[in-house]
Amino acid sequence: MMKAAVLVAPQRFALRDVPMPAIGPEDALIRVRRTGICGTDLHIFNGHYAADRLPLIPGHEFCGEVAAYGAQVRHLRDGQRVVADINIGCGTCFWCRHNEVLNCPAMTQVGIGRDGAFAEYVALPARLVIPAPDAVPDAVLALTEPVACVVRAARKAKVGFGQSVVILGAGPVGNLHVQMMRLVGAAPIIVADLSADRCRMAMDAGADIAVSDPDQLRDQVLGATAGRGADVVIESVGSARLYATAQSLIRKGGHIGFFGLTGPDQTLPVDILRTILEENSLKGSVAGMGEDMHDALTLLAHGRFKTDAFTRASFALDDIQTAFDTLAARPADLKTQILI
Ligand SMILES: NC(=O)c1ccc[n+]([C@@H]2O[C@H](COP(=O)([O-])OP(=O)(O)OC[C@H]3O[C@@H](n4cnc5c(N)ncnc54)[C@H](O)[C@@H]3O)[C@@H](O)[C@H]2O)c1
Ligand SMILES: [Zn+2]
Ligand SMILES: [Zn+2]
Repeated sequence: MMKAAVLVAPQRFALRDVPMPAIGPEDALIRVRRTGICGTDLHIFNGHYAADRLPLIPGHEFCGEVAAYGAQVRHLRDGQRVVADINIGCGTCFWCRHNEVLNCPAMTQVGIGRDGAFAEYVALPARLVIPAPDAVPDAVLALTEPVACVVRAARKAKVGFGQSVVILGAGPVGNLHVQMMRLVGAAPIIVADLSADRCRMAMDAGADIAVSDPDQLRDQVLGATAGRGADVVIESVGSARLYATAQSLIRKGGHIGFFGLTGPDQTLPVDILRTILEENSLKGSVAGMGEDMHDALTLLAHGRFKTDAFTRASFALDDIQTAFDTLAARPADLKTQILI
């Protein structure tokens, strides 16, 4: 048996002794060390997402060590520290073969579609488990999954050095976008957030300009891009209205990264003719997988991300209910992690 935090109903965790997850010949069993809480977990906690899957053990931003693995597994050894790609595809369909695992009809995600890492152990296909360098602290390793999301978004936007970027939203993920854009050499990096505190944090993270007044945003973007508009705008809030705003911020031929999650029925009026004539691009990006996880781990291992604001808040598994209940009251902590 193992100890696990089971979300039994919206906003209600129960700490339970549950059976250890079983593993097959191609699976790995990971002894979890740290698991971050992300916005998706909060949506699950509040019953806005995956409510039909309760009771569920959430938790998908984790690191741990190998506790056991199946007979077919070759790349792992006992006790090795690891992170994991949480996106489990069938491996054989059209989408899996095209590295679009998230479109796999059988796709499921650890901690979202099946039991995750707010527990002493988690099991998943071993091919998704990535050995980590010894020197990287657990608190940093557990950031690999959220960093992989911004790695993917930057890759999809094909951002290169000298490109101007607007990040809408300076929440935890917005802050990671800023750092990622810094790494790929984007300039200038302009951030918008309604919160002056979050704007300050984005400046600390490497933004060149932070705008808290929405009425000034367009002028600021035009002013910083010789009147053209930005090469790339990434929406990292989840507001249909902001997606509309994004269209007024890109340059001709610009790119809008669809990233912030809206409700399921939200739609967006798109200026069709302008999109065609200017060859603008609108592109979604979701999660991080495969190469994204690998590259995120490499960047974190080499200290390319400032992680202090993400690693200072932690709670014991026994206190997970308090950790979730107090999340909204601690906006300066960009991440809260559960110590398992
Ligand atoms: N596509 C993906 O792969 C992926 C991965 C992780 C998170 N997400 C999504 O990205 C978004 C950002 O995640 P987060 O954890 O940083 O969210 P968050 O809700 O913690 O932060 C959002 C930030 O946006 C700001 N904001 C709210 N309304 C605004 C407005 N009108 N203009 C400017 N700023 C505004 C808030 O002040 C806050 O700082 C969420 O929608 C999340 O679900 C997507
Ligand atoms: Zn997450
Ligand atoms: Zn598949």
